[in-house]
Amino acid sequence: MKDLTPPRDTLDPIEIASRDEITALQVERLRWSLNHAYKNVPFYKDSFDAAGVHPDDVTDMSDLARFPFTVKSDLRANYPFGMFAVPQDQVARIHASSGTTGQPTVVGYTQTDLDNWATVVARSLRAAGLRTGDMLHNAYGYGLFTGGLGIHLGADKLGLTTYPISGGMTPRQVRLITDFRPKGITVTPSYALSILDEFAAQGLDPRDCSLEVGIFGAEPWTNAMRKEIEQAFDMHAVDIYGLSEIMGPGVSQECVESKDGLHIWEDHFYPEIINPETGAPAAEGEQGELVFTSLTKEAFPIIRYRTRDLTRLLPGTARSMRRMEKVTGRSDDMIILRGVNVFPTQIEEALMATPGLAPHFQIELSRPDRMDQMRVLCECADASVSDDARDAAGKALAAKIKQTIGISARVEVASVGGVARSEGKAVRILDKRPKG
Ligand code: DLL
Repeated sequence: MKDLTPPRDTLDPIEIASRDEITALQVERLRWSLNHAYKNVPFYKDSFDAAGVHPDDVTDMSDLARFPFTVKSDLRANYPFGMFAVPQDQVARIHASSGTTGQPTVVGYTQTDLDNWATVVARSLRAAGLRTGDMLHNAYGYGLFTGGLGIHLGADKLGLTTYPISGGMTPRQVRLITDFRPKGITVTPSYALSILDEFAAQGLDPRDCSLEVGIFGAEPWTNAMRKEIEQAFDMHAVDIYGLSEIMGPGVSQECVESKDGLHIWEDHFYPEIINPETGAPAAEGEQGELVFTSLTKEAFPIIRYRTRDLTRLLPGTARSMRRMEKVTGRSDDMIILRGVNVFPTQIEEALMATPGLAPHFQIELSRPDRMDQMRVLCECADASVSDDARDAAGKALAAKIKQTIGISARVEVASVGGVARSEGKAVRILDKRPKG
């Protein structure tokens, strides 16, 4: 793999500014953001007043901890535009979450917000190793989802040659990678695996393709998966994180030269880690729930938003801005199986460490006889394996899960293609337990 480290003089000065400079900018921007939310969004006025806090009392970043949290249900209760802080004619763009659990979450951007989003995504793509003039295959979905259009904004700002292929039509994905010879690909890690399968189906070696870096996010993935993808494509694989409520992709990004967690673009998004049970601030470096406050957003300011994503904060390395560790999972995706907490990423790790199995999987939960049961659906790595070898691989995975996670799961090894493929975010959990 080539060294793709961006030259230092191409970075935004704030990326490598001193901590004091970053903090000074944050305090100034936080006071603006809290005031903007308080004056223009009735929800924030009411919640700050109820908590007895006022934006002008803030003199230090630690004062933020006195402000109330914002949670997903607050956004739902204010559907569709109740959380917007500017009149509709100043909103240049609206995005929305898919709303699988009910009402979609609607977010908005002024033109200045779009410019800032472009800046942080351009910074992310550069940190991943792309430079002006490079070609990008953008396979995140275009539409109300922030992935496709968000990456596109930043790619334009960095001066890339971007083609908006979006997700789906996998044979065409391989065709264009082969014919256009892009240097970078932006895609969910699970869809990257589907693309990888398609290379094999077409009799092509992905290691021969032009890709030098993949920028993967929108769902959790492990370092074991990174190794698998890097090896299969002979390219770098780096992590990009974000969520629509805060902006979209480009809230934080892993640097290609260090691959040691994601630098949070702290000049726009202020992170905190809290204990998810008590809401109290976590000790430095401790794992907990990630909370974000926007520092510059005009249309949709967001104060102390509980992301439900679990991670920890770490000091800066390749950049001055702090890092977040790779997200283990969302608290909503945590499975409690007979008293043991399990995340799909732990199953992914066990799977990747088991020879003979492909990296595709789904977890099915059921409750026969009032006891929760987990079934892991996976598939064999190649079509030629015997039934015995397949059984042995399944047993090996069940043993690994028992040994590393401490739970008994049934493992079912399907033939090649037996696990549903993703074209965007993978559905990892099929919950068949009775509701309520
Ligand atoms: O997934 C934005 C995005 C698009 C990020 C493309 C990166 C690339 P939402 O649809 O609002 O936005 O989903 C946000 O996805 O709270 C996490 O639970 C999860 N997520 C996003 N990036 C990562 C990541 C986009 N790198 C939710 N690792 C977040 C783990 C991630 N989980």
